[in-house]
Amino acid sequence: MSRPLRVLLGISGGIAAYKSAELVRLLRKGGHEVRCALTRSAVSFVTPLTLEVLSGQRVYQEEYLAATGSGEEEHITAAAWGEVLCVAPATTHVLARLALGLGDDFLTTTALAFAGPLVVAPAMHSEMWRKEATQQHVETLRRRGVWFAGPVEGPLASGEVGMGRMAEPEEIARVIAAAAGGGPLAGRTVLVTAGPTHEPVDPVRFLGNRSSGRMGFALAAEAARRGARTILVAGPVELAAPPGVIRIDVTTAREMERAVHEHAAEADLIVMAAAVADFRPRQAAERKIKKEQGLPAIELAENPDILAGLRAVAPRAVLVGFAAETHDLERNARTKLERKGADFLVANDVSRSDIAFGSGDNEVTVYRREGEPVFLSRRPKSELAASLFDLFAARLFR
Ligand code: CTP
Repeated sequence: MSRPLRVLLGISGGIAAYKSAELVRLLRKGGHEVRCALTRSAVSFVTPLTLEVLSGQRVYQEEYLAATGSGEEEHITAAAWGEVLCVAPATTHVLARLALGLGDDFLTTTALAFAGPLVVAPAMHSEMWRKEATQQHVETLRRRGVWFAGPVEGPLASGEVGMGRMAEPEEIARVIAAAAGGGPLAGRTVLVTAGPTHEPVDPVRFLGNRSSGRMGFALAAEAARRGARTILVAGPVELAAPPGVIRIDVTTAREMERAVHEHAAEADLIVMAAAVADFRPRQAAERKIKKEQGLPAIELAENPDILAGLRAVAPRAVLVGFAAETHDLERNARTKLERKGADFLVANDVSRSDIAFGSGDNEVTVYRREGEPVFLSRRPKSELAASLFDLFAARLFR
């Protein structure tokens, strides 16, 4: 349960607006104060009176503000009052206006004047969600650190089933709490590494591996959602930073080790999801290696084992390692748990093509210093991240 917040709730015009009434009720039940702002088209989907009664506050609406002539500075007052601004549902039109910084009504001018965290819960038809224009605006908003609740897959207003359904009010309320620094891991620092490392051979070539970084990014997103101060040390990957996460980009294993050591002492939990290269070319060639030079011999040097060295720099942190194995899963995992001094070792079988590298799903067995192994059956990496955090959090709060 998060501390009581002052939530500004923007509601734009879509069928999902009826669920905003439920969101107001839920937030009030959680002890939060809510002020609603309706766009012109939202009024066709949900009545201001409903929201006024549920929130116990006057509702901001265009026509009313225009009629009373009090629209001028109200957006400044509202922006100063709110601790979190949430737009649910957020239509594709509102997302575009937020991304572009347009201020043509009460909600968007308030968003421009607002300095705190912004949460959006998109709701639209799947074609509109997939549209390149929409996705570009979404990407812009994500890069600015805007928090997204959903959308999710499910039945749409059109009767079809697809991506674009608004997240459930409970989920939106959770994201609001996380954005405001609430959540069960508030006050904790979580350090996550993700992706591969690239070890230069010459200016154009490197030794690398097939890690996509998706598992690590899902774990960082989950940590942030639970309210932890989250630091993500990312190898070279093509993924957008999850909202609310502090991202540090690195290329090589040694750079990753430096970044991890810099922040390890602050961390309560360190999750080494990165596929760190064990070896690097001893000396990267300064100029591109040419064929005429004949078959090159690349001498390798061993990289530092980051996880194995962590106990010394973070004696009290909970340490989590990952192991990608093609054979002898259990024996290798147990050996690594011991050898690297970790509290958890999350093992997965990378010889299977339906899970792991580049896949959206994963299936793992979690070996623990304390307790029996836990098997987590195949599921999307985001869901898996949530299940893993249930285990890690139980250890943190022990
Ligand atoms: N790891 C690390 N530093 C390295 C190699 C691995 O911190 N140089 C971490 C990984 O992030 C992971 C765990 O150790 O959490 C296990 O990685 P893995 O590559 O499976 O272990 P290795 O010790 O490299 O064993 P293997 O011989 O199987 O590659």
